[in-house]
Parts: sequence; C-alpha cells; structure tokens
Amino acid sequence: MKEKTADNSPSRSPEQAVISPRQQLQGTVSVPGDKSISHRSLMLSSLAAGTSTITGLLEADDCLSTLAIMRQLGIKITRADTGRYLVEGRGLQGLQEPEDVLDCGNSGTTMRLLTGLLAAQDFYSVLTGDSSLRSRPMARVTEPLSEMGARIWSRQQGLAPLSIHGTSLSGITFHQPVASAQVKSCLLLAGLYTGEKTTVVEPAPSRDHTERMLQAAGVPLEIEDGVITLDASAPPRLKPYNLTVPGDISSASFLLAAALMVSKGQLTIENVGINPTRSGILTALDKMGARLDIKNKREISGEPVADLEITSGPLQAIELSGDIIPSLIDEIPVLAVLATRAEGTTVISDAEELRVKETDRLAATARELNRLGAGVKEKEDGLEITGPVSLAGGETVKSYHDHRIAMAMAVAGLAADREITIDNSKVISVSFPGFLDILAEL
Ligand code: S3P
Repeated sequence: MKEKTADNSPSRSPEQAVISPRQQLQGTVSVPGDKSISHRSLMLSSLAAGTSTITGLLEADDCLSTLAIMRQLGIKITRADTGRYLVEGRGLQGLQEPEDVLDCGNSGTTMRLLTGLLAAQDFYSVLTGDSSLRSRPMARVTEPLSEMGARIWSRQQGLAPLSIHGTSLSGITFHQPVASAQVKSCLLLAGLYTGEKTTVVEPAPSRDHTERMLQAAGVPLEIEDGVITLDASAPPRLKPYNLTVPGDISSASFLLAAALMVSKGQLTIENVGINPTRSGILTALDKMGARLDIKNKREISGEPVADLEITSGPLQAIELSGDIIPSLIDEIPVLAVLATRAEGTTVISDAEELRVKETDRLAATARELNRLGAGVKEKEDGLEITGPVSLAGGETVKSYHDHRIAMAMAVAGLAADREITIDNSKVISVSFPGFLDILAEL
C-alpha cells in the first residue's frame, strides 16, 4: 500500500493511502489486542487493590486516551514492554482529582464508561474529546446517572464537554432503550459506589466484557436473561488482574473480509477473541457461505479465543436484523463492502445505532460505496446492497475521520477495477495501527 500526503510529498504522518486492486492475499497473521477489553482492563485494574499485569493491551489512540486519563487520575501505569503494562491500582477510593480536563480523543468508550466512574468520585472533573466525540449523544449516560443522583452538566442536547461534580450515588434499575455495552458498563461502574444494588435490563445482548472482568475481580454480579445485577451492599474490593487481552475480532473482520474480496484469498488469523456477544460477524460470514474454520478454541483470561481460517469463494446475500445486530455492530460497514461481492440483495435492518458512531456510518458507507459504483440503498435503519457488482475505483474516498470507514474502504479497494485513494487514512490508528502494513505484507 503506497502512502502519500495531500500534496504528494513524503511524510512521517501520511494523510492518504492508495489501495491497489489485488488478486491474491495469503498468510498467517495476528491482530492487535481487543479495544473494548483494553479500555476496561485499564479502568478496572486502576480500581483494583494492588498491581495488575496486562499483556497484549491495544496500543492504539483510543486506548492511549484511556491510559493517559487514568494517569491523570493518579494511577501509576508502567509500560514494561510492547503491550505489557503494570497498573498500580489504588482501590475503589484511590482516584485523585485531575488537575486539568480529561481528553477522551475519539473514544466513546472512554467517555461513557468514565462518566459513570467519575460521577461517583469525591471530586470535580471535566471530560472532553475531538469534534466527532463532542457531537455524539451523551444523554444516554447522563440521564440514568442523574437518576442515581449524579451531578453532571453538558452542552445542549447532552453533548460533551461534560462537567462532573462527583457525589454519592444510589442504586437504580434501568431498562435500556437500546442495547449498548457502553451505557451498561457506565452504570455498572457507577453502581460499584452505591452501597446498593444496580440493575441493568438489556433489550438484546451487548458485549459483556465488563461483567466478565468484574466477576473475575470478585465483584458480586448476577446475570439472568438479560438482567444484570451488581450488588455493592458490601463495598466491593476488586482483586488485581493478571490479564492477557485477546486479538480484536472487529479488527480481524477487516482481514477476513479482505481475504474474501480477492479471488485467491487464504488467511489464518491467530488468537482472536470470539466472545459470543461479539462474534455475530462469524455467523454472518457462515450464512453468506464463506469458507471459514474456527480452530483451536480455548479460553484466555475468561474470554473465548480461537484461530480463524478463511478461504475465498462465492458468497450469497443475507438478511440481518434483530438481536444479532449488537453482536456485529462495528462490522456492518465492512459487511456492506462484502455484500457487493455476494449474489442477491443483502438487507441490513435495525442498525440505526450506526448513525451515532464516530460518524453516521450508514450514510458514510452508502455514499462512499456508491462513489465506487456499488448502488447501495440507504434505509432509515440499515442498508440494502445488491451484488455482485464491480467496483470501479479510480476515486478518492472519504473516511469521515472514522477508522472503521477508512478500513472498510481499503477492503473495497482490493477488489476495485482501479486503485482508490483513502483520505485521512491515519485515522486507522484509532483502533488498528499497522492495518495497512499487514494488508501490504499479505
Ligand atoms: C463498545 C460498545 C459499542 C461499540 C463500540 C465499543 C464498548 O458501542 O460500537 O465500538 O467497548 O463498550 P455501544 O455501546 O454504543 O453500542
């Protein structure tokens, strides 16, 4: 993959990537650590009583935002090696008032989870982020937190920056209007401080990493039929972690899709997290008729992990809606790209949450695939893609400052007739630094 700057001069921080059409993609790779688990491991080990070791932490912009903020909150975090960190947790009451505002960068997980945590502290804090994050809905966390007694101020329409006057909180039973792991996790973190029970009722299963990690630390947590109850009536004490972060299935999905977009694709991706609340993409690929083998299933640090083997071949259109959507919510842009190769009309519904991600991902995916000649129909709550259709290429596609749109377009470019250019490709470092290099090496 060639990289160039906007003015075509060589640069150390390339703004654009050029993706050339490819026939072949082969090899064995691993992907960086899971983003969701990396955020949580930094936050929860900061709250543990003692030093935790984290191996395989994702060193991407989003998680580095969380890491910097935990340091600002008084936690000593040492980088022992690549991806290997020691976090000197100070217990639930050990955080300190930050001297400055806390910058979450592009990371919704950082802002939403920390809002819950900071609402319960005995100090004042301010959370802000980049222009994308400052336009994303935060009322979905500030409203239930206010019901718990939190004192949080925002801009109009619940937008960040958020100004938080920490105070004591009470438990709540909250019925989530939409399945969101960020909202659920935010309330569970706040719940740790209530001295009471906090219950979150999910309309559909969302990623459960927070629950797994709280249970592993010894926090009483019951989960039954989508009802999650954290019991803090005895003040919880979190045991330190010795945690290995599995490879991120969301990052792996771009490589799986890349192998399916070319005529001779054969790829093994080792050590990928296949938590059932995240692995909807594997179900979807199976339904599309992809030749996918899930090998060497095992459990690492309380999370299911496997090696994935994929071989290119014909694909058929599928319909996706309902409960599967939260389990592949981040994979929908790249699934739409794959659908351009599938025989028939792929219909994705119940995915309106994509409109409030790093960008409006339904609009961005439809617009940029159509720029390449795909004929994607944008629906209120999803997308309709009829394939197979050949992608023309020869265009500059926009990333909308969204890492997953940039990577989805790179995957599309592999199967286009002519090379494509992706603007602002450096945004990929939000979740998958090295993605373009891996693609080039394969
Ligand atoms: C995440 C939850 C999801 C997902 C995001 C990461 C998390 O967001 O899209 O990339 O780590 O909890 P929602 O909770 O808004 O669905």
